[in-house]
Amino acid sequence: MCGIVGVLGQGAAAPMLVDALRRLEYRGYDSAGIATLENGNLARIRAEGKLRNLAAKLLEEPLRGTIGIGHTRWATHGRPTENNAHPHATDKLAVVHNGIIENFRELREELIADGCVFVSETDTEVVAHLVTRQMRTMTDPVEAVGAVLPRLHGAFALGFIFEGQDNLLIGARRGAPLAIGYGEGEMYLGSDALALAPFTDTLTYLEEGDWVVLTRNSAEFYNEANQQVTRKKQKTQAGAFLVDKGNHRHFMAKEIHEQPEVIGHTLAHYLDMVALKVSLPFELPFDFKNINRLSISACGTAYLAGLTAKYWFERYARLPVEIDVASEFRYREAPLGKGDLSLFISQSGETADTLASLRYAKSCGQHIMSVVNVPTSTIARESSVVAATLAGPEIGVASTKAFTCQLAVLACIAIAAGRARETLSETEERRLVEELILIPGLVAEATKSESVISEIAHVLAKSRDVLYLGRGTSYPLALEGALKLKELSYIHAEGYAAGELKHGPIALIDEDMPVIVLTPKDSTFEKTVSNMQEVAARGGRIIVIGEAGTAFDAGLKAEASIDMASMASDFSAIVYAVPVQLLAYHVAFAMGKDVDQPRNLAKSVTVE
Ligand code: F6R
Repeated sequence: MCGIVGVLGQGAAAPMLVDALRRLEYRGYDSAGIATLENGNLARIRAEGKLRNLAAKLLEEPLRGTIGIGHTRWATHGRPTENNAHPHATDKLAVVHNGIIENFRELREELIADGCVFVSETDTEVVAHLVTRQMRTMTDPVEAVGAVLPRLHGAFALGFIFEGQDNLLIGARRGAPLAIGYGEGEMYLGSDALALAPFTDTLTYLEEGDWVVLTRNSAEFYNEANQQVTRKKQKTQAGAFLVDKGNHRHFMAKEIHEQPEVIGHTLAHYLDMVALKVSLPFELPFDFKNINRLSISACGTAYLAGLTAKYWFERYARLPVEIDVASEFRYREAPLGKGDLSLFISQSGETADTLASLRYAKSCGQHIMSVVNVPTSTIARESSVVAATLAGPEIGVASTKAFTCQLAVLACIAIAAGRARETLSETEERRLVEELILIPGLVAEATKSESVISEIAHVLAKSRDVLYLGRGTSYPLALEGALKLKELSYIHAEGYAAGELKHGPIALIDEDMPVIVLTPKDSTFEKTVSNMQEVAARGGRIIVIGEAGTAFDAGLKAEASIDMASMASDFSAIVYAVPVQLLAYHVAFAMGKDVDQPRNLAKSVTVE
């Protein structure tokens, strides 16, 4: 994940920026840079590779000035070269950026047609040119940034400084976190509290869609609609960053809201966003062409990520998939062909049943691939290929961001398998990659339903049982919704394939039974709507998670609806996971349950 810092100080900014960037190294990066204002003039130094390369350049050619921005870049659009490193600059400004500007291609074409000359391959450079162009008609940089932000789509954070303005630093947050820090006659900007820890323990976290105008003595906050707003200051224990909840009540809430950023970061690792294709960050010791069957094994939420991926592997790679929970798989004595592939999915990488299944598959001569979040874990160490999820540490016991990052990684592997097996054309791959690039922004959009979800949760909290229904990849998500709700709130919940309803569970439907129906507009949408009609005909209470108007168009009176943006259906499960997680979180919170550490559960299950 890229890291952003900004300093509006009294002393030399460059050493402070490098110091703060060092504290962001843990996020991973492949180039770095800083820009300062020397007597009002922009100056910048960037370097490929690690921060020591940047520090060495700064020794030879020190940057002066008391205001500056810095960045560690993890390459997404364009290679990790010095030329693509941030800050990006024009004669008017320098900008650093974390995340993905989804519509950068359209914006780039528009700017080129308007005479702008691009010198990098990055999406960030469009931001630099857009604001610079805006400043031809609006000389005030604050107004110019305010006018440009609504044109940017995606999940990102930004930091700007401006030529001739040595008391102005602007930050913006849309999907990726950003905090400001308060000093004595100084102000700071950072991707997280840890970056700012050497300077201050007093912070304000920007809220979704916010942007902020900093001078040495003031911070003015604006919301997405460009209205001035107030945001509260708080003390942080950044030294203990891993236990810092930011401005969230619980780790689970923080982790749900981190998803636009960590999914974007994970996808950036697996996709070539310029060529619009999958680029796996590891060599495969086998050819997908020669694999006859894929066996997937995992536990709990990780198993449900695998169940979702089954649809993708079968559809895109025409690869037969067998999947089981690891506690069954390990004792089932499944016949596994030598040279076929077994895939294990685990956040912790230490789950005892998953590890035992892995060892069994290995003993059968299978290739062993794992999707793990902890790269030093036992499962990772015992696998021949490790596909890392870059979700960062997950502290809440209920898995959220690790799940959606698992889905992102599995989607990329399924596409790669499809290409290798020649069951997916280059055009199809391009289309799917374009859809994946939109996911972080859609996930950020989905978090905006939180207040509606919290209202629904207050009603749901009075239920004894809840049913979740879905078809296709929404079926595993229905199971995940039920799992999340029961583990957090202790309300009994079941997930069903919507088509199974009439084969038994429909007997449960009465006016007390809330039925949550996942209805993305996919190939089975009409069928799911019919199942909703069956529930309605029996007096069931329907809660729809789908595009606005879904229930109304079907002539149904839903008790509540959680409106989702319109999106392509292939990977909608990644986006629809967000309301499912938020609903479970808010029901548990409304009931006063221990959201981060539900009773009887452990984060890492290292026993059978
Ligand atoms: C549920 C949850 C668990 C885990 C399961 C596997 O919210 O977190 O079901 O998914 O215990 O854990 P890992 O992924 O560490 O193997």
